[in-house]
Amino acid sequence: MLELVNVVKKFNISGNKEDERTALDHISLQVKPGEFITIIGGNGSGKSTTLNIVSGSLTPDSGKVTINGFDITHMPEYKRAGYFGRVFQDPMVGTAANMSVYENLEIAYARGRTHKPWKWGFSASHKKYFIEELKKFGLNLEDRLNQKVGVMSGGQRQALTLLMATMRQMPSERIIKRDYVRFCEGNKSKAKEEVLKGFKDAKEERKQALTALNNESLSKEERKARKVEIRNEYTSKISRFDLTKQILLLDEHTAALDPKTARKVLELTDKAVRDNHMTTLMVTHNMKDALTYGDRLIMFHLGHIILDVSGEKKNKLTVEDLLKMFEDADKKAEQ
Ligand SMILES: Nc1ncnc2c1ncn2[C@@H]1O[C@H](COP(=O)(O)OP(=O)(O)O)[C@@H](O)[C@H]1O
Ligand SMILES: [Mg+2]
Repeated sequence: MLELVNVVKKFNISGNKEDERTALDHISLQVKPGEFITIIGGNGSGKSTTLNIVSGSLTPDSGKVTINGFDITHMPEYKRAGYFGRVFQDPMVGTAANMSVYENLEIAYARGRTHKPWKWGFSASHKKYFIEELKKFGLNLEDRLNQKVGVMSGGQRQALTLLMATMRQMPSERIIKRDYVRFCEGNKSKAKEEVLKGFKDAKEERKQALTALNNESLSKEERKARKVEIRNEYTSKISRFDLTKQILLLDEHTAALDPKTARKVLELTDKAVRDNHMTTLMVTHNMKDALTYGDRLIMFHLGHIILDVSGEKKNKLTVEDLLKMFEDADKKAEQ
């Protein structure tokens, strides 16, 4: 579970006390695993600041951010990158313009998954996977793997950024072990014992299977296929310990697109979130989208959360209801 506890963030550009702006005024939020939250609120109400604090682009003045109780408030952004995928409003921000679609995907795929940048593989198996995923988008991006991203349209770039933010490669064994202990709920030393034993057992079983294979008389093809099977069995055993699911942060990511492309990217977003059971925070200025998508809706106003609804309550809300709440909140603030 992702949690914000009493987060305060102030900005002061000029250095004068009078110019101080409270962007977030004691924000607390508990996000359940797999929850899809849409976030609305007027300009400057603190939506982007919240996402920036979650991702580590900003540090709060006070309060904390935790994942399963593990405090990440002061963890640098690059170290958190493996836990978050982001798509921004500006299609130019999420991708590297002078790199190809394929290169962008490879870099995203490796993000936070290994301690060793030189191990970032450019492999044929990745390529096949990327092509499959790109095909699902129906934007013919799969035919443009070697094209530089800089020449693509805003919609294509946003779709690509979305894929980069939702793709997930299994982390290295070292990271799986570390994060299993880091993000376990409860006893850490017990968790450590558990994960070490799990890895040891899986390795032992793999060794036995490979030894048994050596004593069998099989054709070259059969042997190769069996080896793949053994490797997959091993991977599935250790993947049980892979606790960290990527959290998706979307900040008005369809706002710069034409209505038709925006619709398409939004549908792709919803599908990616559902297919991957991703915990998602989606900021949008479109109230209809905020009501249509997601399981829970949050409204920000002047650095406060003034509405937090889910389920049946959210389903019953209308755009008119939301507009009325905005107006009432503004009136109250003026008084
Ligand atoms: N880097 C910054 N420097 C100064 N003020 C900022 C900065 N980022 C945000 N703010 C201020 O904090 C408040 C919240 O901004 P933001 O979170 O971007 O709002 P939203 O995304 O809801 O439009 C606004 O008053 C904004 O002017
Ligand atoms: Mg914003």
